[in-house]
Amino acid sequence: MKILVAEEAGFCFGVKRALKLINEYHRQGKKIQTYGPLIHNVPVLNDLAAKGVGHVSSLAGIARSKTLCISTHGISRDIERRLRRRGVPTLDATCPLVKKSQKIIERLDKAKSRVLIVGDKDHPEIVAARSYAGNVKIINSLAEARALPRSREISVVAQTTLNTEFFKEVIGVLMEKAETLHVFNTICQATRDRQEAVRKLAPSVDAILVVGSRMSSNTKKLFQIAKEKNPNAMQIETCADLREKRTQARLKRFDTIGLSAGASTSPQELDNVKNFLQKL
Ligand code: F3S
Repeated sequence: MKILVAEEAGFCFGVKRALKLINEYHRQGKKIQTYGPLIHNVPVLNDLAAKGVGHVSSLAGIARSKTLCISTHGISRDIERRLRRRGVPTLDATCPLVKKSQKIIERLDKAKSRVLIVGDKDHPEIVAARSYAGNVKIINSLAEARALPRSREISVVAQTTLNTEFFKEVIGVLMEKAETLHVFNTICQATRDRQEAVRKLAPSVDAILVVGSRMSSNTKKLFQIAKEKNPNAMQIETCADLREKRTQARLKRFDTIGLSAGASTSPQELDNVKNFLQKL
């Protein structure tokens, strides 16, 4: 069996940066906890927990003795204000590209522009992003784009992990909705590279595995693209998902298997999967 790994896969710059920040703090013997999971990846979160770095899901859970690390997805302005008021020491691991998108939204709001965010309204990144504008609407489907009223002017930004092709389709619909359309392509380069690599690899292999959490937005998008390009696409969270005999029997039928991984999947996890497949 031949295993081909996508040209771009696994940990992105924002995740590496966040883990580096936390590990430096930990090495200095500082006690730290994160606000929400640092990233959407269970093995990485388990590693952090083993070092004593757990996460809290509400302000009430914050331990006074620890520094609070803000996750790569960022936090809302309201939470930021409340943390400041309480004097909670923080370590900001928000991805700079998420921050950049927040700044764009803030600037547009100040200029009184109508802001449209394309993304998942329940994802922590979008929960935080929407707090940067008063007049904001979130959509996540072509039907929602089509249902928008006509406007004189719309400014549109994307969730950093959005499917690039889907964003282009939404923009196509919005062109009919506004006299002036300002498009900010805030899909990050790491997302674009990983999606492009999967688009290239998926049609050239018999089957493709996308490794990453089902909670991870960018992994979900990679799997979506893989499925569009290859009927034998599967998403697994870790190597343990390959232990089932039925799954192994299915995989053994293929001569070439492609591998891709979300931006929060570690290189070790990708290697584990690759080694497991090679031994099949
Ligand atoms: Fe940042 Fe993009 Fe990764 S926004 S956290 S570089 S997926």
